[in-house]
Amino acid sequence: METTRTLGRSGIEVSALGFGCWAIGGEWQDTDGQPLGWGRVDDEESVRAVRRAVDLGVTFFDTADTYGAGHSERVLGRALGKRRADVVVATKWGNVFDEDTRTRTGGDASPAHLRRALTASLDRLGTDYVDLYQFHLSDADPEQAALLRDACEELVREGLIRAYAWSTDDPARAAVFAEGPHCAAVQHTLNVLQDAPAMVRLCEEAGLASINRSPLAMGLLTGKRRARQPLEAGDIRSRPPAWLQGFGDGSGADPEWLARIDAVRDVLTSEGRTLGQGALAWLWARSPRTIPIPGFRSVAQAEENAAALEKGALTDAQLTEVDRLLGR
Ligand SMILES: NC(=O)c1ccc[n+]([C@@H]2O[C@H](COP(=O)([O-])OP(=O)(O)OC[C@H]3O[C@@H](n4cnc5c(N)ncnc54)[C@H](OP(=O)(O)O)[C@@H]3O)[C@@H](O)[C@H]2O)c1
Repeated sequence: METTRTLGRSGIEVSALGFGCWAIGGEWQDTDGQPLGWGRVDDEESVRAVRRAVDLGVTFFDTADTYGAGHSERVLGRALGKRRADVVVATKWGNVFDEDTRTRTGGDASPAHLRRALTASLDRLGTDYVDLYQFHLSDADPEQAALLRDACEELVREGLIRAYAWSTDDPARAAVFAEGPHCAAVQHTLNVLQDAPAMVRLCEEAGLASINRSPLAMGLLTGKRRARQPLEAGDIRSRPPAWLQGFGDGSGADPEWLARIDAVRDVLTSEGRTLGQGALAWLWARSPRTIPIPGFRSVAQAEENAAALEKGALTDAQLTEVDRLLGR
């Protein structure tokens, strides 16, 4: 398998594996105390993990202004330093938050907020352009989003961003953004247990990259979580909001999800892959457009995930076998 892929129509080349920077934002919450991060992290370890990833050939990093209420962007910017020019940085806007209290206070889909948010992200990242700027409000009104798409075209003309995308699971919404010439991708949920055929088809037809969030099903597809194994307070998976699947009521991994992982374990761990590497291999086989962006919180996780690149994609026969085993 080629170890690079193109960011849709933009022509921007990235490693076929990106790194997701949600967890390294550390703890943050909603106004009602709902955790929105992945619990405590060690910033120095996060910095080492980012640098190790770059050493191992990873050239694509996905963050958001709101992860850790600005903290993820700051850590990523510090870790990259001068190497920022060698990599492709994607971030997101749309959420409103308070950096001091690390609290998300709401959302704002106005073009005025778009510009304010970009200025703040550039400052935190320590850069003067964003490669891929993504709209983070996945269920926003499509008519409003069309105004944002046009505002993004303006930002491309000004040289502040190179391309843009919508982070959404709805193909109809993604299609609204796809009408803009510099829309390069959709960021959406895709993993072995959560297929998204309509979205993958849209990406293939419209020439967009399919950037895959939660490629490891929020850690479940690494095989390390057991049923009734509680998560740390402050970790979003300990108190899952309605949209977060696979962790039941928060008392541990959902047994039904674990059973489905067991069903495909042998196929995914073939050719010496770890389970997590097999989950990434499934994504590369799923479409030539996919670019998984697994999250990480340590050098060890960064190394294991980056090593998946050399092992490449599953075969078409293995893809069919996974569908059969999961009754699809
Ligand atoms: N709305 C949006 O736009 C949106 C939503 C979700 C995600 N995303 C993006 O997608 C990225 C990835 O998705 P995700 O964070 O939801 O989940 P994921 O990539 O499916 O799972 C990542 C988590 O799995 C665990 N892990 C990773 N590598 C591992 C390894 N080699 N061995 C053992 N455990 C490992 C880590 O958590 P533990 O060690 O704590 O288990 C890590 O934080 C995010 O970082 C973010 O950039 C965007």
